[in-house]
Amino acid sequence: METSAQKRRDSKKSLRVKVISLGNAEVGKSCIIKRYCEKRFVPKYLATIGIDYGVTKVQVRDREIKVNIFDMAGHPFFYEVRNEFYKDSQGVLLVYDVGLRESFDALDGWLGEMKQEMGSQANMDSIVFIVCANKVDLTKRRVVDEGEGRLWAESRGFHYFETSAQSGEGINEMFQSFFSSITDMCENGGKRPVSDVSVGFTKEQADTIRRIRNSKDSWDMLGVKPGATREEVNKAYRKLAVLLHPDKCVAPGSEDAFKAVVNARTSLLKNIK
Ligand code: GTP
Ligand code: MG
Repeated sequence: METSAQKRRDSKKSLRVKVISLGNAEVGKSCIIKRYCEKRFVPKYLATIGIDYGVTKVQVRDREIKVNIFDMAGHPFFYEVRNEFYKDSQGVLLVYDVGLRESFDALDGWLGEMKQEMGSQANMDSIVFIVCANKVDLTKRRVVDEGEGRLWAESRGFHYFETSAQSGEGINEMFQSFFSSITDMCENGGKRPVSDVSVGFTKEQADTIRRIRNSKDSWDMLGVKPGATREEVNKAYRKLAVLLHPDKCVAPGSEDAFKAVVNARTSLLKNIK
């Protein structure tokens, strides 16, 4: 017969967690989960209707973790169904398709929906976020590169993994890291350990690099109106230079962004009297 001390020890070792998947429709959320839980891939698209629920047990160090997975439908049509499932999650899989820029751009909107639904309960520091750049097997149609995805994720303290539900690439590593970070967080009193993802650059730096990469012309890159004066151009340049100078900024892509800003300023000044 189990003694009560034994029971206490066992219950300390076992853990129950809730994770959810988020991202646009058709990015591969259900396939990523299926690849991990059932070791198979389904090429035919079967849209999730509202929510799919499943349970899996995993071992992290000396603990058995019972993971409740709520796989959300990405289609806006199912908003009413999924909105009540955000609460009490310890982990979030944020998925986008590397071949569809709008699915990457939509990640901020997904975080927004989640915060809104969690309301005053929203404590993003008590949740482990993993960003999955999915469908990396389709190399020819890729439009969001690793640097851009990693920058977005790591500047927010999120983990970043390149995955393919089709080939299985990155899937086990991603889930192992996910569950072990959730366990670390639970053992740390429900707070994400500070050193979990250490990046050494700010969100402002990361967002600026992203904005520069996506700017449509030199005016846009410097953040000034077309027809701005030399002073305005120089002022905007100096602000960006301080933020992105390679001596001060270690964010991936900062060197290219800095060079682009220098070039943009030079070409604008050439044409301003
Ligand atoms: P919703 O449930 O509608 O939100 O979509 P979802 O994000 O769950 O997408 P799902 O997993 O159903 O996959 C959508 C389509 O993409 C399916 O046709 C999958 O076969 C395909 N797919 C998913 N992951 C991959 C991948 O890594 N590579 C390739 N080539 N196709 C994938
Ligand atoms: Mg699905």
